[in-house]
This record gives sequence, C-alpha cells and structure tokens, in this order.
Amino acid sequence: MKRIGVLISGRGSNMTAIAEAVRDGRIPNAEVAVVISNIETAAGLERARGFGIPTFFHSHRGCAREAHDRAMAAELRRHEVDVVCLAGYMRLLSPWFIREFEHRILNIHPSLLPAFPGLDAQKQALDYGVKFTGCTVHLVDEELDHGPIVKQAVVPVLNGDTAETLSARILAEEHKTYIEAVALLASGNFKIEGRRVIEL
Ligand code: GRF
Repeated sequence: MKRIGVLISGRGSNMTAIAEAVRDGRIPNAEVAVVISNIETAAGLERARGFGIPTFFHSHRGCAREAHDRAMAAELRRHEVDVVCLAGYMRLLSPWFIREFEHRILNIHPSLLPAFPGLDAQKQALDYGVKFTGCTVHLVDEELDHGPIVKQAVVPVLNGDTAETLSARILAEEHKTYIEAVALLASGNFKIEGRRVIEL
C-alpha cells in the first residue's frame, strides 16, 4: 500500500482527481494520506476534507524556504508518505526537500515540457502560436519544471482559443495524465535511466 501526500496552493482539481481515482481503485494499492497547503484558504483543503483526508496548513510567510519544507516533511513523515504529488503547489521546493524524497516527488505542468516552463504556460503556448500543447507529469529535481518525464498528453490549440478555454482543455487531460503517472509510480513498475522513465 503506497501512501500519497499531495501539496496544493489552490483549488485542488488535480488533487480531487487523484483522490477519486484512489477511491475507485483506478490507482490500486494506494491511499491519499494527507493534503498539505501553504495557503490557508486554498479551496482544495475543503475538498480534501470532503473525502475524509487529513489536511495540514503551514504558511510560508516569514518562514525560510528550507524551514518551511522541513515542517511539511515532518507532516508527510507523520503520515508515512511514500509518494509526494505537487498539484498546483505554487512554491519552489528546497534542495533539502528534493533530496529527502528523491525520485518520489511528482509535479504536473500544463505544457509539453521542455516547452513553456514556469508560470502561465497555457498563455505562453497561445502567444507562441503552437498548434499543439498539453501537459507533463515529471519527477521533480532541483531545476524548475525539469525532472525526468513520467507521462505526457497532447492537446490541440484551436482557433479562437483564449488562455481560459485552452487551460480548461488541458486541465481535462491533466486529471487523466496525473492518475496514470501516480498509478505507475505507486506500482513500482518502472526504472529510471538518466532522464528516461521506462515502464516495465
Ligand atoms: C494546474 O494547471 C497544474 O498543471 C498547475 O497548476 C494548476 C493547478 O490546478 N501546476 P488545480 O489546483 O489542480 O486545480
């Protein structure tokens, strides 16, 4: 049984998708052990409680990055978390945290990395004029939106798209892609060779 900890900062739709997939057995042998937010009012916290998942809030304000991460790691350990999912967690993690959970932290990003890392990836894609974009679930390393890619999905950019309509189309794929990636990580049926995550 793999225990999942989810870090959020906002609405938590990816967290909800993961929690539903765990509940329905689409992510087998897994449990969402805790949902942690750095923002007290994050709507995702309330949604997590609706699933009966324990929640924890720790503000990053006035807290050095590593000290904040150590507080979160202590909570993750208290819940015996094996896999950490970043799901709209809007903070960079310290190198300490990344080493502590090496190869066990997933992030979802709303573009086909390495294109359009950073903020507003959907608007970046629209402004650039690409015909296809998508989403990426990757293992987290010390560089932003950079670690080995676990799963990707392609989404077309349509005439008349705005950042909002494109974001919504990508978000629907994010939910499916994140579930597939968490299921793979939880199954342990993969190996990592350099930057390549290979399914076994
Ligand atoms: C998603 O678009 C995700 O790719 C990005 O932040 C957004 C989070 O949305 N990292 P939600 O909180 O999961 O609804």
